[in-house]
Amino acid sequence: MGTHRIVVIPGDGIGPEIVDSAVTVLQALERRRGDFRLELEWREAGAGCYLKNGTAMSPETLESCKAADAILKGPAGHPNVRLPDGTEAGLLGGFLRNGLDLYANLRPIRLYPNVQAPVKAQPGDIDYVIVRENTEGLYASRGLGVANRNAAADTLLMTRPGVERIARFAFEVARQRQGAPRDGGHRVTCVDKGNVLKSHAFFLQIFQEVGQAYPDIEKERINSDAAASALVMEPGRFDVLVMENFLGDLLSDLGGATIGGLGMCPSGNYGEQRAYFEPVHGIAPTIAGKGVANPLSQVLSGAMLLRHIGETEAAQELEAVVLRALESGRLTIGSDGCPVGGTAAATKALVDQIQTL
Ligand code: IPM
Ligand code: MN
Repeated sequence: MGTHRIVVIPGDGIGPEIVDSAVTVLQALERRRGDFRLELEWREAGAGCYLKNGTAMSPETLESCKAADAILKGPAGHPNVRLPDGTEAGLLGGFLRNGLDLYANLRPIRLYPNVQAPVKAQPGDIDYVIVRENTEGLYASRGLGVANRNAAADTLLMTRPGVERIARFAFEVARQRQGAPRDGGHRVTCVDKGNVLKSHAFFLQIFQEVGQAYPDIEKERINSDAAASALVMEPGRFDVLVMENFLGDLLSDLGGATIGGLGMCPSGNYGEQRAYFEPVHGIAPTIAGKGVANPLSQVLSGAMLLRHIGETEAAQELEAVVLRALESGRLTIGSDGCPVGGTAAATKALVDQIQTL
């Protein structure tokens, strides 16, 4: 039986509530299947940790993260907890994404049944993944920009090895998927503003070079502004999209809005060996502590974690559990993106669904 060491970081705001829900669901699945074991190591990190200890993540926690088989992380940070330069003090991307060189951020955008979407689409019509470059681009400047009273600058950095590896990652992901909903085409779409920016033209050029090694995958490109429109107007044409860090940040939120909100959006951050899994959204301070948050972003991040540690069947089963709970009406997501009956009711619906396996 596979035993896996998982570091769990509850984070801030709604983080502890939805992480608690995801862990409850994962443990129910673990008991039901009996073919894997998760050894959990709980660690504090984020804005609360910064206020207490003067750092958002202690060196010991970072070491645990490095030694773990995977990390399940809740949203972290707080808009009111800032560094002297005005940026947020509780964010963990600098520690985990740059610190562990987790260069690929995989963000699946999938419309589940009975979730109210503001676009005209049926479940199955929207099913693509955004591959966001995670260590360079505009966010290479994380904490490193320059500013005085009259001017400020952040550098958008693209390196050949950095772009090559993210392009390769995207093509490999495309090989494992079912293709775009509209026509089944296995394709990778490069999203860029190469018609204006040198750095983006460089990204596109390298995307095309790397693509030559993948004759089985269609390649296309689209300007990033046109992509914002196409993701709303014709999401079914997309299979895998690859893009620079900042664009990936923006367009994954846009994609999330088309499938019932960011509460439906899990993500995985991958390096050569290590990986961590977290919702795409932030800490939602206005609803924190109320027990109303949608835990599905965190639960589905848990499914991505299971896949990463090799528990493929369990991962598929967990995704099917979410799908069936929504399909059957056992779990309902309201028009506000929150589950009817609150986080606890959603957790119970998922655990009940697991018992039917
Ligand atoms: C995300 C988040 C982070 C980012 C923030 C919290 C720093 O928005 O993961 O998309 O911008 O990368
Ligand atoms: Mn974001």
